[in-house]
Amino acid sequence: MIKSKVWFEKWLVVCFFVLCGKVSRSTLGVNWGTNSINPMPPGYLVKMLQQNNITKVKLFDADYHVVSSMAGTGIEVMVAAPNDMLYNLATDPNAAPDWVKENVTQFLFNGGVNIRWVAVGNEPFLSSYEGIYVNTTFPAFQNIQNALIQAGHSEVRAIIPFNADIMTDAPLPSQTTFKPEFLTQVMQVLNVLNSTGAPFSVNLYPFISKYQNPEFPLDFAFFDGSASPVHDGSIVYENSFDASYDSLVSALSAAGFPNMPIVIGEIGWPTDGNVYATIPNAQKFNQEFINHVQTGLGTPLRPNMPFEAYLFSLIDEDIKSILPGPFERHWGLLYFDGVVKYPLDLSAGTNAPSTTLTGVQYPPYMSHQYCVLNPNVDLTNLTENVAYACSRSDCTPLYTGSSCAFLDAVDNASYAFNSYFQFQNQNPAACNFQGLGEVTTQDPSQGTCRFILGLIAETPPSGARSRYVLNLSTSLTIFVLLSILLIFT
Ligand SMILES: *[C@@H]1O[C@H](CO)[C@@H](O)[C@H](O)[C@H]1NC(C)=O
Ligand SMILES: *[C@@H]1O[C@H](CO)[C@@H](O)[C@H](O)[C@H]1NC(C)=O
Ligand SMILES: *[C@@H]1O[C@H](CO)[C@@H](O)[C@H](O)[C@H]1NC(C)=O
Ligand SMILES: *[C@@H]1O[C@H](CO)[C@@H](O)[C@H](O)[C@H]1NC(C)=O
Ligand SMILES: *[C@@H]1O[C@H](CO)[C@@H](O)[C@H](O)[C@H]1NC(C)=O
Ligand SMILES: *[C@@H]1O[C@H](CO)[C@@H](O)[C@H](O)[C@H]1NC(C)=O
Repeated sequence: MIKSKVWFEKWLVVCFFVLCGKVSRSTLGVNWGTNSINPMPPGYLVKMLQQNNITKVKLFDADYHVVSSMAGTGIEVMVAAPNDMLYNLATDPNAAPDWVKENVTQFLFNGGVNIRWVAVGNEPFLSSYEGIYVNTTFPAFQNIQNALIQAGHSEVRAIIPFNADIMTDAPLPSQTTFKPEFLTQVMQVLNVLNSTGAPFSVNLYPFISKYQNPEFPLDFAFFDGSASPVHDGSIVYENSFDASYDSLVSALSAAGFPNMPIVIGEIGWPTDGNVYATIPNAQKFNQEFINHVQTGLGTPLRPNMPFEAYLFSLIDEDIKSILPGPFERHWGLLYFDGVVKYPLDLSAGTNAPSTTLTGVQYPPYMSHQYCVLNPNVDLTNLTENVAYACSRSDCTPLYTGSSCAFLDAVDNASYAFNSYFQFQNQNPAACNFQGLGEVTTQDPSQGTCRFILGLIAETPPSGARSRYVLNLSTSLTIFVLLSILLIFT
């Protein structure tokens, strides 16, 4: 009895992954960040991923609730150890084995989570970190990789999502190398990656190039322009992506690893918080990038060589740090509430029929009420109250060049009040503002300006730290469904 159940569950997993393999020839994944006041409950997003056949997900930590929500789905998951754990992982010999046990081993049971990668750190060599993680990144990475091997998880491999400014800013892609100050550490990482067969992972952002340098030709950021080509020997680069990718190929070659596979850990375009961060630009960039990656044509230095890429990102994060810029909260394909921002065909470039991205079904909104300014009262203290609201919510859509920048002073104040009110879970006291605020059931959104309606905060299910186990009746149902599917495909 017990034996046959084990056999049965093994078979179940095998047949499940075979099926998923059929569905997902795609090389595309998404980054899923959760820096939100009331993050979309993971179950809703997992359903959305499945409906859109998105089969690769990259996380920025290893939150139990998020990771376990993907149990039994076959979705390939990258869990991550954030930068603030690097020191401990590098110096405490128990830290990496403990990390792997809690954040990987726990999920790898039959019917569990298809964890494939562990990201160690996130852009740890970014110049703005001024080298604080440079000495701990490699030891932490090596300790995690060793802990994975020791725990018997040879199918799970460690990588490091690097930032593009790990490379020199050479005038031509072919002249690019890794920055000399990081070379020792990068060589150590490359040797381990080569030994495990894991790829070099880099995040590429043509948008940031444009944001940081107004001279950067906008059409070079996209994939259909040729007004500003870069001539590198006999190669002509017509888009920033190919040039950056081949810069990395050159840097890897110079370091002695000309064939190291490359994964794009993050790529995307934001929709708000900057004049170039608009919905048409984001749609254009992401769609053209999807076409580019999925046709498998590769780049001039690696022609016809497919690579994987993770779009940044799945969903907006309304409390993400805006130190790099107000656009940081607006990278999502979905707004924070799971609504699709623009049509996107994730099947473009493949043989599969074209599709349109669909959002979260029935987002768990709080009641349909908003907080707005009552313009008929004494407005003496308006400025302070708006400032207070904005300092404790998200007012980036009001900034110059943003989606709500056109609002007049009254609507502008309303936007701020409402944002705070929703962040406070529609607590009536949070719409007082010294008598300036009033609650309304009319959606004050206008044009491009979308007033938010908050999501119900989710309390994680009790007993959340125990394993997910498929009981026999669930297994049987899935078995029957899968068998039917297998017969008809
Ligand atoms: C998902 O994959 C299934 C099976 O290949 C296909 O029938 C369906 O149209 C796809 N849906 C989307 C949105 O890609
Ligand atoms: C598991 O991962 C999360 C996110 O990286 C971290 O906060 C937690 O401390 C890890 N657990 C252990 C035992 O290291
Ligand atoms: C990293 O190590 C080098 C060489 O040992 C040392 O000079 C440097 O100060 C260290 N950096 C940090 C941030 O600890
Ligand atoms: C990479 O690993 C392979 C074996 O897997 C080895 O033959 C090759 O020399 C390694 N490359 C470098 C540059 O170390
Ligand atoms: C404005 O704020 C001050 C200080 O909090 C308060 O004393 C005053 O009554 C407020 N005025 C109005 C019209 O609400
Ligand atoms: C709108 O609100 C923002 C944020 O408080 C403020 O910086 C801006 O000046 C306001 N604009 C108008 C027209 O009142």
